[in-house]
Amino acid sequence: MDEFLKAVKISEKVYWVGAIDWNMRYFHGYTTTRGTTYNAYLILDEKITLIDTVKKPFLNHLIARIKSVIDLEDIDYIISNHAELDHSGCIPDMIELCKPEAVYASVMGVKALNDHFSLPMDLTPVKTGDRVSLGKDSLYFVETKLIHWPDSMFSFLENEQILFSQDGFGCHYATNNMFMDQCPSDETLWEQEKYFANILMLYGPKIKQLVAQMPEVGLPLEKIKMIAPDHGPIWRENISFIVEKYLEWSDMPLYNRAVVVYDTMWGATEKMAYSICEGLRDSGVEAIPISLQNSNRSHIATQVLLSGAVLFGCSTMNNNMMPSMADILCYIKGLKPKNRIGTAFGSFGWSGEAVKQMRAEMTEAGFELIGEGLRNKYALKLEGGEECYKLGQAVAEELKNRIAGQG
Ligand code: FEO
Repeated sequence: MDEFLKAVKISEKVYWVGAIDWNMRYFHGYTTTRGTTYNAYLILDEKITLIDTVKKPFLNHLIARIKSVIDLEDIDYIISNHAELDHSGCIPDMIELCKPEAVYASVMGVKALNDHFSLPMDLTPVKTGDRVSLGKDSLYFVETKLIHWPDSMFSFLENEQILFSQDGFGCHYATNNMFMDQCPSDETLWEQEKYFANILMLYGPKIKQLVAQMPEVGLPLEKIKMIAPDHGPIWRENISFIVEKYLEWSDMPLYNRAVVVYDTMWGATEKMAYSICEGLRDSGVEAIPISLQNSNRSHIATQVLLSGAVLFGCSTMNNNMMPSMADILCYIKGLKPKNRIGTAFGSFGWSGEAVKQMRAEMTEAGFELIGEGLRNKYALKLEGGEECYKLGQAVAEELKNRIAGQG
């Protein structure tokens, strides 16, 4: 059956030999609504080179696609740009099957691969500025430490000007199209935003530093003609678009949009959320209520990236915030959002600790809190609705002032 899985030529010397995971929906907490791909690349030069592998269950896809152009034993080098298992999971098998002359990874990559696997050969560490000749072309390496693992690195095919960027500039998007410009741009932009929010938001300062240092390390952006990531379609046009987007998202500027994330027991907190949204909207700020009962962490993290204000609201339950709220606050805290204002609100019956607890978590996550938060006893009364509406207005005014100040 596997004979129908073929390599796809993407340039003079490079073939895509990866796998498409159409049905992936849960990527350790990331809701991959549109599936994903695990991209691996084969360079046909005097030294035949495999760049990264695929997630282990797709080993047969990798093997079949490679065998559609060469024999496995023809592979001379394997490059591991990223030791996370969706890319390195087949490295032990490929070493056994191909018996390569060398396997290259960053210093931290060599360590991580040896920590993951018992490998039958020594791996060769490379660092920023190192170059490996493939014959007519060569690979140039740039470490990208902590974007997003300590081992991560870029490999650049110098004559063909292709940057193999591992997770960077990728997205979880299963498609029959090989190139980004062949895909619907609204879908792929959302998936890029989502990928950045959920995987890279906390590394914004490092991303800015890396982009600024690219000319110094011998890889100015204008040299790059194609970006071949490990997930999603390949960039062959408009490369500056995605680089500029990465710089923008790294800064997390304030956008004129507020996200109101809530859970509710008997509907009162939901009524509060909707009244707050009306206040925001009537004051000129786009407002998006998101119920935790019908959404997921990765969607909410994306909305946090694309907002200016974030409000969290839930009922008090057994003297605590609701577990769904604790979950999302824990997740967002790990992503270390910056430059976001917000507050908390919620309905209560007799003790009402949730608002205070949410505000404490929000402070720890890096949100700048506006006002004292808002609690409302039991069902929403008319005067309670007005307070919510006014809270929305107050957050909107603060957000608009700050947006005006950011220039
Ligand atoms: Fe796609 Fe960080 O692995």
